[in-house]
Amino acid sequence: DLYGAERGNSLGLPLWDDATRTPLLAAMIDALRAPATAAPIVSGRAIDTGRTMSIVSPHDRRVVVGTCTLADEKAVDAALDAAKAAAQGWDQLGGAARAAILERAADLFEAARPGLMALLVREAGKTLPNAQSDLREAVDFLRYYAAEARAKFETPVTLPGPTGESNEMSLHGRGVFAAISPWNFPLAIFTGQVAGALAAGNAVVAKPAEQTPLTAAAAISLLHAAGVPGDVLHLLPGPGETVGKALVSDERVDGVVFTGGTDTGKTIAMALAARPGPIPKLIAETGGLNAMIVDSSALPEQVVDDVLRSAFDSAGQRCSALRVLFLQSDIADPVIDMLVGAAQELTLGDPLDYATDIGPVIDAEAKAALEAHKETMRGEARVLFDPKLDPALSHGTFVAPAIFEIPEIGVLEREVFGPILHVVRYDGQRLGEICEAINATGYGLTLGLHSRIKATADFVAERVRVGNIYVNRNQIGAVVGVQPFGGEGLSGTGPKAGGPHYLDAFAVERVRTTNL
Ligand code: NAD
Ligand code: ALA
Repeated sequence: DLYGAERGNSLGLPLWDDATRTPLLAAMIDALRAPATAAPIVSGRAIDTGRTMSIVSPHDRRVVVGTCTLADEKAVDAALDAAKAAAQGWDQLGGAARAAILERAADLFEAARPGLMALLVREAGKTLPNAQSDLREAVDFLRYYAAEARAKFETPVTLPGPTGESNEMSLHGRGVFAAISPWNFPLAIFTGQVAGALAAGNAVVAKPAEQTPLTAAAAISLLHAAGVPGDVLHLLPGPGETVGKALVSDERVDGVVFTGGTDTGKTIAMALAARPGPIPKLIAETGGLNAMIVDSSALPEQVVDDVLRSAFDSAGQRCSALRVLFLQSDIADPVIDMLVGAAQELTLGDPLDYATDIGPVIDAEAKAALEAHKETMRGEARVLFDPKLDPALSHGTFVAPAIFEIPEIGVLEREVFGPILHVVRYDGQRLGEICEAINATGYGLTLGLHSRIKATADFVAERVRVGNIYVNRNQIGAVVGVQPFGGEGLSGTGPKAGGPHYLDAFAVERVRTTNL
């Protein structure tokens, strides 16, 4: 069971409580009966562009979850015009009024729990605990950014006035933000981006990942119901190469908040730089090639539990997930034996089933890339665990978890976004070199460390350049406001989502000096 100890569940609604599990599942199944829809929502109205696409479920591609109408150039144009016109009024509303709306949205998200979780399971292939975490994080983002807006965006800060003048500094929205999100947290990241930009006083045009527009449409409808004006928040579902590209190339967009692959982040940065006029703000949270270092003082049972969660939860489709496990040679063999034994116990299957540990990967393209990587590893690495997929799962895009031993992290040139773990043995003398090798990947998102020796933990933490370090626990599941999340280098520009500096990046600072 990968999910026995879900952390930080601020909804306070345990999935595994016998008293609540049946009613929740029944309500979710009810919510799945009607096919869901998504469409461009411009100024509060759905636009029919005549171009639609079916959204199928990753666990069984014969199951149609709903239909999405794709945005076209006219919808992009109308949304940007309306957002541009509405931005100033939304900024002038002030932090406290915006906070109240976002808090109302948080309440509505909680009340819509069965429907939202049903979409997360069927559209994104999330297991029940992962769907719950995704919803919980979305709610946490809404409440956290509301509190930040109230604290920082309502009242200007008074500064010293040594010459008798009065000085005050206030924060304001930049104007229009394009929010471009990935499919792996279709509710939490989508909502976090939108809530951050709105809280800071921006109008928002949101473009969700093409794989998960139905969840995004449900979130937008709840945000509008909570009181975000239609002209302030627009939804433009569609491909990155057309709708996303049109947004980032348009001078009416004052800033972009993006989460996704590192290459896409660079493409967006280049498009923004190529535009005439001012340099727009870019907040980019991108990929990771995350390591865990385990020395011979670690507790093997805890290591195995934390490695399984870090590498295989969410079918490895978390940017924070563990990709390369460094094991000190003295304990490598027994830890590998236990790890392989425990991995054999993991259950792949329908995410709606409580027994499922690992659901499908998002789509056929992702599955093909992961299977191709496994094939390369079979030729180049030592195979530790590489089970065959149960033929009963052939209607979905499932990838069996696998573990390969490689000589060094440098063998991997880029992020491998799925349930594939790599193991590297190391000699205790080489700890400094291991830290340098991790830094040399250029990524800097998460690091796990298992050691009972404080000097080792300090040595590693001082050397490895990553955004989030976890010592003696798993390395996924950052909690909003508790573990502000985000990386450096190839992993992103910062600031950290769910942290005290996030809203600042969506704002401009203005100082007023008055001499009356
Ligand atoms: P992706 O880069 O393929 O797509 C992300 C978004 O960008 C989508 O909405 C897509 O349509 C859009 N897009 C694509 N091309 C574009 C273009 N030319 N212009 C504008 N928009 C464009 O990423 P994905 O496959 O959806 O998500 C998985 C990736 O996200 C992984 O690399 C993962 O590590 C990363 N991720 C990072 C974090 C983080 O916090 N650092 C969190 C979650 C996911
Ligand atoms: N914020 C997510 C995590 O920490 C990606 O796992």
